[in-house]
Amino acid sequence: MRIDTPLIPSSSHLQNLASQSVVVMDVLRATSVMVQALSSGVKEIIPVTTVEEAFQLAKSFPSETRLLGGERKSRKIAGFDLGNSPREYITAKVKGKTLILTTTNGTKAFHAVSSGKTVLVGSFLNVSAVTQRCLHQEADVILYGSGDEGELSLEDTVCGGMIIDRLIHLGKPPIELTDASQMALIAYQRFQRDLVEALRLSNHGRTLIDLGLGEDLSFCAQTDTTVLVPTFKDGVVRI
Ligand code: MLT
Repeated sequence: MRIDTPLIPSSSHLQNLASQSVVVMDVLRATSVMVQALSSGVKEIIPVTTVEEAFQLAKSFPSETRLLGGERKSRKIAGFDLGNSPREYITAKVKGKTLILTTTNGTKAFHAVSSGKTVLVGSFLNVSAVTQRCLHQEADVILYGSGDEGELSLEDTVCGGMIIDRLIHLGKPPIELTDASQMALIAYQRFQRDLVEALRLSNHGRTLIDLGLGEDLSFCAQTDTTVLVPTFKDGVVRI
């Protein structure tokens, strides 16, 4: 099994995806929101790239069956039902609904890798379950961090490193790591005893703290709160 972890989201990593398992990670906060929303009973999630697309798509659902969620500049979008804090996605608000989600980096990443053999939603919240799914698929793996507006994201790199660490311990040799995967593994080893520290030091983590959303960091740094592994297929994320 070969594992690559593109340190920045780039088109050069998007070749030959059809034979590979892709794990999309946007720890702060899009994939954490997706995992949490589905754990709270959301029926399905439709990730879209623009706010206009989200409003347009919302018209095709009866209003009581859908929710608009997401962020721009990390804040709730005017006219939306929910922002992009996983703490908002509680059962009482979301159960049984279709969530139309648009975020700055995370929702775009799903469309960039849609040709993957499978496209899984990864986060610390479901890290062990995602690892197990990758092992069962017996395909090469791309751990695709959504990044931070085209730049490296420390929290996604550390999450990728944690999945690599588990794949090495549980997988069948030979496991081949690219140089980027070696870097992600080293980043995880640096922060493994205190994942919140990585999130606090990250560029996006500091932005969220400045906006008064610091509690999202400890929420998103929890590991294995669920065994759900959502999959993105035909434009929709489902369990
Ligand atoms: C993103 O997709 O860029 C993030 O989820 C941003 C955020 O939640 O603030």
